[in-house]
This record gives sequence, structure tokens and C-alpha cells, in this order.
Amino acid sequence: MTSVAWEGSSSSNVRLRRLRLSDRPRIRRWMSDPAVIRFTVLVPGPEYGPVEPYDDAAADRYLDLLVRDPDRRTFAIEVAGVHVGNIGLKNHDWENGAAECFVEIGELSVRRQGVGSAAMRALLEIAFQGLRLTRVRLGVFEFNVAAIQLYRKLGFVDDGVYGSHWADGRFWVVNAMAVEAAGWTTQT
Ligand SMILES: CC(C)(COP(=O)(O)OP(=O)(O)OC[C@H]1O[C@@H](n2cnc3c(N)ncnc32)[C@H](O)[C@@H]1OP(=O)(O)O)[C@@H](O)C(=O)NCCC(=O)NCCS
Repeated sequence: MTSVAWEGSSSSNVRLRRLRLSDRPRIRRWMSDPAVIRFTVLVPGPEYGPVEPYDDAAADRYLDLLVRDPDRRTFAIEVAGVHVGNIGLKNHDWENGAAECFVEIGELSVRRQGVGSAAMRALLEIAFQGLRLTRVRLGVFEFNVAAIQLYRKLGFVDDGVYGSHWADGRFWVVNAMAVEAAGWTTQT
């Protein structure tokens, strides 16, 4: 496995640092917020029930996964030193130089200020320049217009269907999007 520095990735006043178990209070707060959970939690079928905000125990399990899963690199997104969201890479396919990414800005007050874009640019820099990956893929709900626009601006293109998601009494398509190292743009 390739190693990469965890600390110090930054773009403007947005900085990525390794997520820690001590970040628990914010993770609990964000994952109990329907505005976060609705766009991040994949529920593949009605047998799993509706998308419910996480209780503390579920949020703690999620944090454990983010921090301890050896196949994940999860970063805290900091703005001027304040932890406002999480971002990371998972499901690394080292043989083919690929990985999947995820992002959530938990603090609603800092949304739509360029933080998600800056954090994604920093993550892609880690993926393409640090880890020497050639491709980053993700799954995004078809109703998540904000995220889809953000990804397109960074050079992500449609990459088929990732899966399906049950919410509000129906299935939604989870689209896949991907960006190649060659097609990545630092402009938004
Ligand atoms: C998607 C998300 C990460 C965007 O983060 P952000 O910091 O608000 O995004 P930015 O301010 O960098 O916006 C970049 C671009 O994305 C698009 N965008 C962001 N928020 C938008 C919104 N509410 N409506 C429409 N477009 C939006 C715009 O094109 C925007 O560029 P512009 O402001 O110049 O028009 C954030 O809204 C979020 O965490 N959402 C909930 C979790 C989630 O959806 N995660 C992704 C799962 S695939």
C-alpha cells in the first residue's frame, strides 16, 4: 500500500487533517441531522426502512469505521481551525490505481462558501499526486443537485449507475461519477 502524509493538505483557509475518535461530539451532531443524513446514507431497499438520522450509538459506529477501517483515509475538513466536515477515500483498488471518495459538510452555516470545492481539490491532490491514483469514483443520489454540480465543476463525468436508494416511498438512482487524473481541474 502506498503511504501518504495525513497532515497539511490545504487550499486557501481550508485544511485537511486526519479524523480522530475525539471528533465524536461533532460527528454525533452531524449524523443526527436529516440535512446531512439524507444525502449521505445509502439505503439500498425498502426492507431496510426509511433513512433515519443516526442515534449516538450509530454515529459512534460510523466514526469507528471512518477512523479504523484500514481501507479508508478519512480527513477532517477544517476552516480556520474549526472542524466543519469530513472527506475521504475508500475502497482502494491499488492494482488499477482507483479509489472511491466521499464528502460531507456537517456545519450548515459554512455551506455554499467554497469549502466543499476546496476540500475536494485537496483530496484529489492527495489521490492523484500523493497516492498516484489515476481514477477516483463516487456514488451520488440523483436528487443531490448540489453535489452533482460540485463534482462536474471539478471534472467528474457520468460513469454509469452505482446502485439504488430507497427514500420517501420510492427508489432513486444512485449515479456513479468519476474523474481521471488527466481530466482533473483545480478550477471551479
Ligand atoms: C455537496 C456539498 C459537499 C457541497 O459543499 P459546499 O461547501 O456547500 O460547496 P461549494 O460552496 O464548494 O459549492 C461548489 C459548487 O457546488 C454547487 N452547489 C453547492 N451547493 C449548492 C446548492 N445548495 N444548490 C445548487 N448548487 C450547489 C454550485 O455549483 C457551487 O458553485 P457556486 O457556488 O459557484 O454556484 C455540501 O452541500 C454537503 O455536504 N451536502 C450534504 C452531504 C452531501 O451531499 N455529500 C455528497 C454526497 S455524494
